[in-house]
Amino acid sequence: MTSLTSFWSSYITLLTLGTIVAVTLLLFATRKGERKGSTDQTMGHSFDGIEEYDNPLPKWWFWLFLGTVIFAVGYLALYPGLGNWKGVLPGYEEGWTGVNQYRKEMAKAEEQYGPLFKKYAAMPIEALAKDEQALKMGGRIFASTCSVCHGSDAKGAHGFPNLTDNDWLYGGEPATIETTIMEGRKAAMPAWLDVIGEDGIKNTAAYVRSLSGLKQAEDARVNLAEGQKIFQSNCAVCHGPEGKGQHAMGAPNLTDSVWLYGSSLTNVQQTLRYGRNGNMPAHKEFLGNDKVHLVAAYVYSLSNKATGK
Ligand code: HEC
Ligand code: HEC
Repeated sequence: MTSLTSFWSSYITLLTLGTIVAVTLLLFATRKGERKGSTDQTMGHSFDGIEEYDNPLPKWWFWLFLGTVIFAVGYLALYPGLGNWKGVLPGYEEGWTGVNQYRKEMAKAEEQYGPLFKKYAAMPIEALAKDEQALKMGGRIFASTCSVCHGSDAKGAHGFPNLTDNDWLYGGEPATIETTIMEGRKAAMPAWLDVIGEDGIKNTAAYVRSLSGLKQAEDARVNLAEGQKIFQSNCAVCHGPEGKGQHAMGAPNLTDSVWLYGSSLTNVQQTLRYGRNGNMPAHKEFLGNDKVHLVAAYVYSLSNKATGK
């Protein structure tokens, strides 16, 4: 816990103790002695005809209030609360429970897993992908860190790639997966509306869909040849002349049935009109090398299980 400056420490202490003393005085000042039957004397004010009897505070109420004051004083003596006062109970030397408990647990985890992380950090990902314990640890990291975006089964969702198939934006080699997780990835699919116009969008979207065998509606008036021409001059740089994609650019293969942003005509047109900028955050700082190594092995195992590699 960071310490308060001595000014703020005394300020909080005085304010807290002052308040406790003040409410106690107020309590006794308004006590009015013992209750001797009820009086019919009133306080002398009337609000819309509602008057207040001048009776003493009920006894149970008085003692309950006094009890809370005593509890507060005892509590503040035992535990941290009054400025920099740490309380007389042992175990709070560094501040309040939550912080302390967290530190203790972290230290324990470090002691327990530290040597394991070291061992695994030195092993290649292919070997880790066959180590049950390593996969369990990687799976746990995945569940707590990655599943929010990629799903708890790693199958992804609209805009979040499926990590269990063999279709990769950036590549599925162990080192590439690790780099993706360490450094993050930022996809740059440009917006095309201003470049090729609405007709160009329609024709090119139809052409792109045709690459994976998707048919247009009978009455769709699209010009696939025109779409192909646009594709060759604008899109092939990234997606390749055959539309098979390019890992270096993160440009997806457009000839398979895997769609990051949906395969419907509307979805594809939307992708072309406004572009897409999928963002995979970097995890280097957050997880550190050893954990990234483990979770990379876990991801690698997801699509390399079947082949037994
Ligand atoms: C905030 C959401 C988010 C989180 C958290 C996240 N990812 Fe991603 N990840 C993405 C997006 C979006 C992409 C696709 C980037 C793109 O469109 O180019 C991606 C891409 C990837 C890829 C590349 C897939 C390919 O086909 O090449 C891998 C591998 C990956 N993530 C693994 C992970 C792992 C492991 C974690 C946890 C340590 C993680 N991601 C956490 C959003 C996320
Ligand atoms: C500068 C490189 C680049 C160019 C040029 C480019 N793309 Fe892309 N394209 C990408 C990237 C990168 C993605 C992945 C976007 C993401 O992951 O967020 C993408 C995604 C797409 C998708 C979405 C695929 C899916 O699975 O949902 C389609 C469709 C597409 N591009 C079509 C085209 C067409 C058509 C053109 C030309 C008019 C084009 N692209 C030009 C880089 C490019």
